[in-house]
Formats: sequence, C-alpha cells, structure tokens
Amino acid sequence: MPITVAQTAGFCFGVKRAVDMVYEALDAGKQVCTLGPIIHNPQMVEELSQKGVRIAGRVEDAPRDATLIIRSHGVAGEVYEQIEKAGLGMADATCPFVAKIHQIVAEHSKEGAVILVAGDPEHPEVQGICGHCRGPVYVFKTPEKLQEIAENVPELCEKPVILVSQTTFNKKVWEKSVEMAKKVYTNLKIFDTICSATARRQEEAVSLAEKSDLMIVVGGRHSSNTLKLFDICSSICDTVLIETAKELYAYDFGGKIKVGVTAGASTPAFIIKEVQLTMSEILNNNNIEEDVNFEEAL
Ligand code: F3S
Repeated sequence: MPITVAQTAGFCFGVKRAVDMVYEALDAGKQVCTLGPIIHNPQMVEELSQKGVRIAGRVEDAPRDATLIIRSHGVAGEVYEQIEKAGLGMADATCPFVAKIHQIVAEHSKEGAVILVAGDPEHPEVQGICGHCRGPVYVFKTPEKLQEIAENVPELCEKPVILVSQTTFNKKVWEKSVEMAKKVYTNLKIFDTICSATARRQEEAVSLAEKSDLMIVVGGRHSSNTLKLFDICSSICDTVLIETAKELYAYDFGGKIKVGVTAGASTPAFIIKEVQLTMSEILNNNNIEEDVNFEEAL
C-alpha cells in the first residue's frame, strides 16, 4: 500500500539555518538562549532543552552569560537595540527572505509610504515586519479585511501604498488580495514576499492530496505553515494533523489505500521518517507499537 512522502516535507532553508546556528553555538561551548522557541516543533525544542538551550520570552529574561539567538521569524528593530543595551552576545538567525521584507518596509515607510501586510497579526514574523515600519502599517488576513481597511481609512487611497506578505501566507488568498488592492489603490507597489519554499510545499500538498485517500500533515499544532497545509489538504481529502508518529494509533484508517505525507517547515526529518514507518506498519495490520524500532529502521 503506497505511502508517498512529499519531497518538500520538513525543514526549509531558513529553519535549517536557524537550528544549525544553535548547534554551532553549542559546539563552540557557548551558553545558548533563544528568543522564543527556535522553531514551532515541541519535540525539537525538547531535544535542544536537554542539551542546555534555554528560551527567553523577552530580552531582559535572557541570562547575562548567554548568546541570544534570534529565530528565523526575525524581530522588530527595537529588539536589536535592547540586546545591545543589555550587552548580550547575539547570533541572528533571521531568515534572509524575512530580512528582505524588513528592508523593503523600512525603506518605503521612511519615504512616506503606508505599508499593508498580508498576514496574521499575532504571528511573530508579522510583528517583526511591523516593527521595521517607520510610519503607518496595517495588517490583514483576508481580502474582506483589506476592503474594510480601504473603507475605514479612505485617505490611504491618495498615498503611496506598499503591499507585502508574511512569507508563509496562503498564495490564493494573496492573489485575491492583490486583485482587490489594485482596484482600490492607485499609487500601489506590490512585493510578492511569499517564500517560494512555502509556495512549492503548498503546491505539492495540493497535487499529492488530489492523488490520495488520506493526507497526513506532520508538524507543530502552533505552526502556522503546518496549519495552512492542513487547511489546504483537508479541503481536498481526509486529512489528519499529527505532531508525532504515535498519534497515528488513535485513528481508524480502514479503507484508506493511497496515503500522502507532508510536513511543516519546522518538522525534523526523523519525525517524518517515524510517521512513514508507523503508517506503513498500520496499513499492513502490524500495528503493534512495541514492534517498531525506529533506531534500527533509521
Ligand atoms: Fe525562510 Fe521561507 Fe523558511 S522565508 S524561514 S525559507 S519558509
């Protein structure tokens, strides 16, 4: 019974870079503290915690002797100032694609443009982007919300407007938002800042889901890109979202023949492999948990 794992499943370039930076700092014998969990994957965060990596919610909570690592989501400009003021060592793992958005919004807002960000206002990446704007900035999640901003702030129509997106924003929602923005704003510049890794992952998830009876999406339940994969796949076929392979035992997969597996950008390769092996066992009716020896199988 075929299980197909998406080629794009797992760590993206930016997340791998951030995790590598943590390991490099540990290898160099440094005390390591990350500003927020380095990735949205509890298993990976736990593994790092066992190696002594601490997590600080705010700069002032970081131990004085630690190297503070900024995660791939990036942070607002003022956070760099706080780190410098606190005299902490720092390693900046802001993904270069996110840093590019910081540069776009900083430059254009300095020249008087209003910034519109397509994204989740609660997401740290979006908060970091807003924190690099030097003037008015509005965040919207849906074209309807964008319409609402246009109606409530009509003076925006006369100003230069810059449209950017969170790197993991849904491509279809972005395209609809662009269409709407073009109708409303005459002095508009659009920067499609959706990361191609995200777009490729979402496109592959669609084509895999179309060929599957069941999609398994592996990733942290607080990871926005994992949740987006779940939304996309569940609109096409039966889909389950799991963080670890063991969760598969809670489901009845009777009648499912073609199974696809994809995973969010923060999901380590070893978890994806465990899911593949466990699912294979379940489909072959050998679902005896103790028989799966991941160490040997890997
Ligand atoms: Fe960077 Fe794209 Fe990953 S923006 S963090 S490579 S999803």
